[in-house]
Amino acid sequence: MTYDFETNVDRDPILRGTGKYNIMRDSKGNKPPKGTVPLSVADMEFRTAPCIIDAIKAEADFGLWGYHMVTDSFRQACCQWMADRHSWQIQPDWIVPIEQVVPSLYVSLFAFTQPGDGVIVQTPAYHHFIGATEHTGRKVLENRLLVDANGRYTIDFDDLRKKAAQAKLMFLCSPHNPSGRVFTPEELRQIGDICLENGVLVVSDEVHHDLIQKGYTHTVYASLGDKYAQNSVICTSLSKTFNLAGLCFASIIIPNPELRATFQNTMSTHGFKHTSRFGPVAHEAAYRSGAPWLDELLDYIKGNYDYFRAFMAEHFPKVVVTELEGTYLAWFNCSSFGLSDADLAAFLTDECLLYLDNGLEFGPAGSGYQRINLACPRNILADALGRLYTGCKARGLAQ
Ligand SMILES: Cc1ncc(COP(=O)(O)O)c(C=O)c1O
Repeated sequence: MTYDFETNVDRDPILRGTGKYNIMRDSKGNKPPKGTVPLSVADMEFRTAPCIIDAIKAEADFGLWGYHMVTDSFRQACCQWMADRHSWQIQPDWIVPIEQVVPSLYVSLFAFTQPGDGVIVQTPAYHHFIGATEHTGRKVLENRLLVDANGRYTIDFDDLRKKAAQAKLMFLCSPHNPSGRVFTPEELRQIGDICLENGVLVVSDEVHHDLIQKGYTHTVYASLGDKYAQNSVICTSLSKTFNLAGLCFASIIIPNPELRATFQNTMSTHGFKHTSRFGPVAHEAAYRSGAPWLDELLDYIKGNYDYFRAFMAEHFPKVVVTELEGTYLAWFNCSSFGLSDADLAAFLTDECLLYLDNGLEFGPAGSGYQRINLACPRNILADALGRLYTGCKARGLAQ
């Protein structure tokens, strides 16, 4: 390995304001004891790629950070990345810079729907899809994914057809968080056809688009063909891929000029004017030189997933671990522990000192599940799983 994914980085929660450490709460709403391990929120315990650190240092040395517009060079680098890694040919002016992906979900709702309109969300779902829809007074139309005995998720197309008849917009999460599914072109085309037939705009959140395991290929929704592209808003960022979430930058790619103008106008009327300078600098460096680091990262995450899966198979054979096709977030069904969702969460934080994402954060479809973040040095993962094992033994839960 050329890059270092093994060294533990001390992310001091006080000095560095590290979000995932600061938001942890135990079952009584108190901060859990020091040393509780958060393998929750989707950011990584790895330092980003050296090429990005160098680019940020050079920008820091420049010392003049006035208002910023993304450069032509940034746009070209993004186009090249999409062509090289996703076989998707885009034009530089399709890219709309914004601070983060989540605000782009809100802007899409304001731009393309009215209060009361139906919005399709495939559950279990990343909580902001439901949150943004409800906060803006739109109506969530749940299209619950189907899950088989091996924990593999697929789309309920009959239900999707029914929901599409009542919807204006669909939030597609591709690859899907938390199920880790990388949807096939056939699945995406079926979604697209149903949406086109019903006049439903597809807002495809592809923030995990580069985190794809070997044997799977991510298909950008808009790359399916022009009719799909013209009815889409594609939300991308390297924030997950290269651990840049704190630099707050995303590229929303909108091939249709009318949709793009409406989106940009809505951004403006909702107060989005400029992005920071450092976000696009980091992104350009990653687009141009980050691929070798990313390829090693993906291998390391696969190693962690294999370790996790083997550990669970050995110690908790009744726990169903879903295949990790994409993302670095493993999703697993703990119903066999026989605990309620609340008791399971309390057991993990209070007794195991382990903080994961509870399935219910992804809606009722996540009941019984936990999501664990595998983007950490293996010794952290091993420590976390050891805590789980010891906690379960003490409780008589080991299976
Ligand atoms: C599907 C999905 N979209 C968006 C985000 C957040 O992106 P951002 O930080 O750019 O708002 C996440 C983070 O976990 C995510 O999983």
